[in-house]
Amino acid sequence: MIRILGIETSCDDTGIAIYDKKQGLLSNKIYNLKKMHSKYGGIIPEIASRNHIKKIIPLIKSALQESKSKLQDIDGIAYTAGPGLKGPLIIGATISKTLGYACKIPTIPINHMEGHLLSPMLKKNNLTFPLIALLISGGHTQLILAKKIGQYTTLGETKDDAIGETLDKIAKLLGLKYPGGKSISILAKHGIPKTYIFPRPMTKNKGLMFSFSGLKTYVTNIIHNTKKTKQTYANIALAFEDAIIDTIKIKCNRALNITKLNNLLIAGGVSANKRLINTLKTMIKKRKGKIFTAPIKFCTDNGAMIAYVGMLRFKNNKNDLQISIRTKWPLEELSKIKY
Ligand code: KG4
Ligand code: ZN
Repeated sequence: MIRILGIETSCDDTGIAIYDKKQGLLSNKIYNLKKMHSKYGGIIPEIASRNHIKKIIPLIKSALQESKSKLQDIDGIAYTAGPGLKGPLIIGATISKTLGYACKIPTIPINHMEGHLLSPMLKKNNLTFPLIALLISGGHTQLILAKKIGQYTTLGETKDDAIGETLDKIAKLLGLKYPGGKSISILAKHGIPKTYIFPRPMTKNKGLMFSFSGLKTYVTNIIHNTKKTKQTYANIALAFEDAIIDTIKIKCNRALNITKLNNLLIAGGVSANKRLINTLKTMIKKRKGKIFTAPIKFCTDNGAMIAYVGMLRFKNNKNDLQISIRTKWPLEELSKIKY
């Protein structure tokens, strides 16, 4: 029986989980720096790195305890090897490799985006392939054609800012807390519809690329040139959320039309947005397709998705001390690795 310890440190959240092939998820611990990053309005890589160092070992101990496991019961250590922030990745990789080497447990480098992509499987083990995967997080905005587990083709991505990054920046200008996506949704509930209409970037072009920096500048100018009242800010939050949701909907529909598919998977931190998910659910219902999403706790960064993919990729394991991370790591490259 395979039992995997998952270690996620690609960004600011320290995620530790234990996944057992037979029993499922046994423990999922997360420490996030949201309060601290809220103070700065975003992620400070140096602060994130220092916190991973402090938190990883206590979280591993507590996950082992919760899952009633000892280190000897662990068959593999899956860690996020990329993409992500350099400092945080190095810390996760170093601790995983050291622990693996000392305890003779093989280590499995995991692609963070594959973790997100397969996170809906933590709820339901079966996805219907082929499908289009929309990966939306603080660092990524991608449309992926997934033929099966491990076979991915990028159909579109952002030319500049990622969707989460854009939400976080506008939230900061509106004086809201990090993570911006969540704060904007809460404020948008008080907005009066259609007070503002913001652009839907690159939706008139035929392709599947995204761009959010123009929208960010547009909304920034509106914020600077408008009355700073609660109601105006709520109206801006709603119009901004509308623009983001509409843009994503148009691009997803187009990706499904181009590939003649009807199944859509949505993952990554921004997929915690309920209005976005409901809009896409309605769209997929009309197409008579299937939609796959992860429960909110698995949408944002977590160790469970890393442990799960580690379990799937367990065969490709090594027990060495070579520490390699990749701040950029396209999903296409995974097709070279056999399961
Ligand atoms: O996947 P994730 O936790 O970390 C990265 O890998 O980037 O995604 C973080 C992003 C942040 O930009 C945050 O604003 C956004 O996810 N986010 C949300 C919500 N919760 C977090 N966006 C929209 N609605 C939410 N409820
Ligand atoms: Zn992520």
